[in-house]
Amino acid sequence: MNTRLVIVLLLMVGRCVAQQPYGATIPWITYEAEHMQTNGKIIGPAYDPYKVETESSGQRAVLLRSKSEFVQFASGMNANSMVIRYSIPDSKDGKGLEYPLEIFINGKLIRHCTLTSRYAWLYGKYPFTNNPADGKPRHFYDEIQITNLPVSKGDVIRIQPGRSLGDTTAYCIIDLVDLEIITPPLKAPANSLSVTDNIFRGKDSSYDYTEAFQKCIAKAIETDKTVWIPAGRYMLTHDIMLPANIRIQGAGMWYTTLVGNEVLYTHADRRVRLIGNGSNIHIAGFSIAGELNYRSDQEANDGITGSFGTNSTISDIWIEHTKVGMWIENSSNLTITNCRIRNTMADGINFCVGMSHSTINNCTTRGTGDDGFAIWPAVFKPQQFSPGFNTITHCTAQLPYLANGAAIYGGEHNAIQNCFFADITQGSAILISTTFPTSNKSVDNNFSGITIIKNCLIKTSGGFDHEWGWRAAVEICLDKRSISGLAIDSVFIDQSLSNAISIIAKNADSTAEVLRNAILENVHVAGYSIGVKNKRGLFISDGVHGLLTIRQSSIPGISGNTELNMAR
Ligand SMILES: *[C@@H]1O[C@H](CO)[C@@H](O)[C@H](O)[C@H]1NC(C)=O
Ligand SMILES: *[C@@H]1O[C@H](CO)[C@@H](O)[C@H](O)[C@H]1NC(C)=O
Ligand SMILES: *[C@@H]1O[C@H](CO)[C@@H](O)[C@H](O)[C@H]1NC(C)=O
Ligand SMILES: *[C@@H]1O[C@H](CO)[C@@H](O)[C@H](O)[C@H]1NC(C)=O
Ligand SMILES: *[C@@H]1O[C@H](CO)[C@@H](O)[C@H](O)[C@H]1NC(C)=O
Ligand SMILES: *[C@@H]1O[C@H](CO)[C@@H](O)[C@H](O)[C@H]1NC(C)=O
Ligand SMILES: *[C@@H]1O[C@H](CO)[C@@H](O)[C@H](O)[C@H]1NC(C)=O
Repeated sequence: MNTRLVIVLLLMVGRCVAQQPYGATIPWITYEAEHMQTNGKIIGPAYDPYKVETESSGQRAVLLRSKSEFVQFASGMNANSMVIRYSIPDSKDGKGLEYPLEIFINGKLIRHCTLTSRYAWLYGKYPFTNNPADGKPRHFYDEIQITNLPVSKGDVIRIQPGRSLGDTTAYCIIDLVDLEIITPPLKAPANSLSVTDNIFRGKDSSYDYTEAFQKCIAKAIETDKTVWIPAGRYMLTHDIMLPANIRIQGAGMWYTTLVGNEVLYTHADRRVRLIGNGSNIHIAGFSIAGELNYRSDQEANDGITGSFGTNSTISDIWIEHTKVGMWIENSSNLTITNCRIRNTMADGINFCVGMSHSTINNCTTRGTGDDGFAIWPAVFKPQQFSPGFNTITHCTAQLPYLANGAAIYGGEHNAIQNCFFADITQGSAILISTTFPTSNKSVDNNFSGITIIKNCLIKTSGGFDHEWGWRAAVEICLDKRSISGLAIDSVFIDQSLSNAISIIAKNADSTAEVLRNAILENVHVAGYSIGVKNKRGLFISDGVHGLLTIRQSSIPGISGNTELNMAR
């Protein structure tokens, strides 16, 4: 009884906050290729697995096959930078091809670019291969970033292949273009040490910056200064440990880039990996461009990993072509803000072992190879904090080529709120599940307190998970265990590909999988089953027991098991 009262109070507090209601505040505007003027071929929509259409935003894109085919659009804004999400074919050996692309403004050629499929294309069964002969292709897309463009509002931007390959299998698919105005690079903060200083870099200024970073960090700790990474590209070939109290500042995510070494990248310990190892770490303002193009779960994660103790912050960081964006453990009161994760081999950001009172705010993921955002209180390592009270807020997840937009696998009182999910076509926009282990003999991090899903907007999601089948846009999955304490409030589910909401017990005969204290309130479903026939607004599988309260909701097409008591 008390619990319900507490929920009501939380809802009222939440409604007082005026902000962008759903998802991250993004500084770019997206132009969808299928809405541009084109003499190429619009492809899609399609919703089945292993199709490029399914991995396209809105499940549609434009196919260009020769130099005379283009997409063009009038810019609605001034802009100086652009991201193009594209797909080009793989090579026969799976290593990838390069393909030229040209950009015109008002009819004038202003840029030649080289696209690559080196980081795209995976095949076969999880965790996938780079061998086209294994079939079942996925991860068709990659992105290119282009800066220093002189775009004024009203200018016509045309994008076309840089040559005709004569080969009928050659093509370039454009999914979307993001236009953005990027502000000039930041200046060195006061009281800082630059990684480019000769004392760190050595006289021969070798291209490998690993040692310079390590020395600069050590000196910054010793002298209580900030590590400054000016605009530029910095190759790193070994782990960078982040000790307690370190501050690292780059010139901005468009300007300062930590890059991997393509040749060494097959060695799991020679990647771009920043490892938190202490409290009060603050890192901001750079990007990480890894070189990973395969997934091996035996190899350690690259990107940002480790333990950030208490009170650390990670902000304004762009990560691509790594295994994960961030895989964080043993941290409390960590905040991750304003980050972009794109085209990774696995998760965007995962709060794993021992995460408490930490927040992911105003971040976006696109093209991740696993959950965009995940909270998984695993027990395969000792946990420093009792996991729970973590929040994913004002975040946007789009277009993972495996798994879900955001997932919670256990823990106490975690929340996903004010988020936007679009085109989650290989899984659920939001998955609440007991799929992964969260307990051992001494600790049980199962769902407890109230898990909150609140103020979320979900479009064209709920797709085919190759190891599971169609998942709902919002799925509550009693996979291995029960779930108790779930408040789903003010969630709008638009154009779900399969079921809009499902409650699934993996074992249809089980009496052990119980849903307790679950409420759906202000949940509105507009359109479902658009990608596959005979799906529902709310589907409850056999084997689910317990109590579900539905209030003030519009959910057409409720079907399934009657052993779950529904109070309405
Ligand atoms: C992590 O930090 C601790 C001190 O807090 C230190 O003893 C240890 O050597 C550090 N680990 C690495 C790999 O730097
Ligand atoms: C974290 O911040 C809080 C509030 O400022 C402070 O009380 C606490 O000591 C900090 N923790 C550490 C490890 O610095
Ligand atoms: C959390 O950490 C921030 C610094 O990142 C600090 O300002 C704040 O006081 C901390 N909050 C708590 C409750 O410790
Ligand atoms: C959100 O992050 C973007 C960068 O992606 C930034 O431009 C914007 O100011 C941030 N908004 C808020 C409210 O923090
Ligand atoms: C169980 O998990 C906890 C938390 O991660 C860990 O501290 C403990 O060592 C684990 N115990 C066993 C028996 O594996
Ligand atoms: C987490 O914290 C525990 C206990 O302090 C420690 O044994 C373990 O190594 C930590 N793991 C990470 C990844 O920091
Ligand atoms: C979670 O674990 C605790 C301790 O083992 C147990 O009492 C509780 O019933 C479990 N809850 C669910 C939903 O499994």
